[in-house]
Amino acid sequence: MKIQPARNLFGTINLPGDKSISHRAALFSALATGETRIKNFATSADCASTLSCLEQLGVEIKRDGTNVFVKGVGKTGFQKSEDELDCGNSGTTIRLLAGILAGQRFDSVLTGDESLSKRPMRRVIEPLSEMDASIEAVENHAPLKIFGKNPLRAISFEPQVASAQVKSCVLLAGLNASGKTSVLEKTPTRDHTERMLRWFGVDVQESEAENGRLITVSGDAQLRAKDLLVPSDVSSAAFFLVAAACLKDSEITLPNVGLNPTRKAVVEVLKDFGAEIEILNEKEIAGEPIGDLRVKGRKLESKTSANVLRGKIIANLIDEIPILAVFGTQIEGGLEIREASELRVKESDRIKSVVENLRKMNAPVEEFEDGFRVGKSELKGARVDSFGDHRIAMAFAVAALFATGETKITDADCAAVSFPAFFETLQTVCNYK
Ligand code: S3P
Repeated sequence: MKIQPARNLFGTINLPGDKSISHRAALFSALATGETRIKNFATSADCASTLSCLEQLGVEIKRDGTNVFVKGVGKTGFQKSEDELDCGNSGTTIRLLAGILAGQRFDSVLTGDESLSKRPMRRVIEPLSEMDASIEAVENHAPLKIFGKNPLRAISFEPQVASAQVKSCVLLAGLNASGKTSVLEKTPTRDHTERMLRWFGVDVQESEAENGRLITVSGDAQLRAKDLLVPSDVSSAAFFLVAAACLKDSEITLPNVGLNPTRKAVVEVLKDFGAEIEILNEKEIAGEPIGDLRVKGRKLESKTSANVLRGKIIANLIDEIPILAVFGTQIEGGLEIREASELRVKESDRIKSVVENLRKMNAPVEEFEDGFRVGKSELKGARVDSFGDHRIAMAFAVAALFATGETKITDADCAAVSFPAFFETLQTVCNYK
């Protein structure tokens, strides 16, 4: 993919449905009784992996553009798949499905592509084993062979990593356990699972504990079908927010973007660094806050002296860090990211991917075990790599807009993992130099 420097961006973009919410909408409506219509389901390849795994498990699904109709089978109504369930590149598919399949009365095998097969699965194998499911893996990596059991044993679990996927996996297994299953969350992570389970009628209890928040579900909960609309993906919005905020005379409107408090830190951070972003028409849809975002390009003047992001905010920004790294090249004082070693086990080692690509584009950057620091810089067009990682491909497409000269991104097609039309969309809103 070749990208030229841009003068500015202008227009309105209807972004694809949120990836995290779409996965959950498909999985939870399958667990429900009755038929659910999901509107604005993500176009992402990852969410297509979730749908095809569900179909293999005997769930009837119809697609009509971005409308998806799911005929729920109930919590234990899935059918054993004779073939392996291919989760593709999707960490959310494999970890959430593992929680659901642990509580079925049959065995399943979950596989994935090369990247997914390198990602850590001990974080879900341990709690599910404690719940009495038996799981075979290759040194704690996929393929995962899950020997389901019903009912599972209810547990109280304290994850060692701040991960919404781990939390969700355990809560989903808890729906098929005898008694109450709790997760103690020390650092808040995205709470789409809690919100959507409630939407489907589950009593999800939350209480403040001494060292965090305790989230509890009961094994006798039942999910009932209920139509829902998926908000546009704030993680996809982030690429256009950064691009437009940094290029003078830009104006981009992004309607109906998900503004869940556990996901929208990127908007707050960009505003702190002087980005002009307005939030309009705020409302709540299917238990999730949404609003329109309008961003205008102007000279950035920081309202904060804290050019270091670390601590609890990292979990709220985790998928936006590649694009924030690019933003760091455009702001006074640059940007340092710390306590973000989870980035090393995403679709690529995102610390390494960001550092290598920024260096190729002439940015001064220092790598740490748990993050990096990038200085303000004049970016130069270069040949960069996506490392097979959708968010790296899209972040560096935005970096290319700020650079002098052409940038080539190898293996940029992987953007389809979350945003298949990303490059066409960028093309339609960009005015080039
Ligand atoms: C996700 C949670 C995050 C995030 C991923 C989607 C989810 O992963 O990076 O893109 O949908 O629950 P972790 O839970 O592993 O941090």
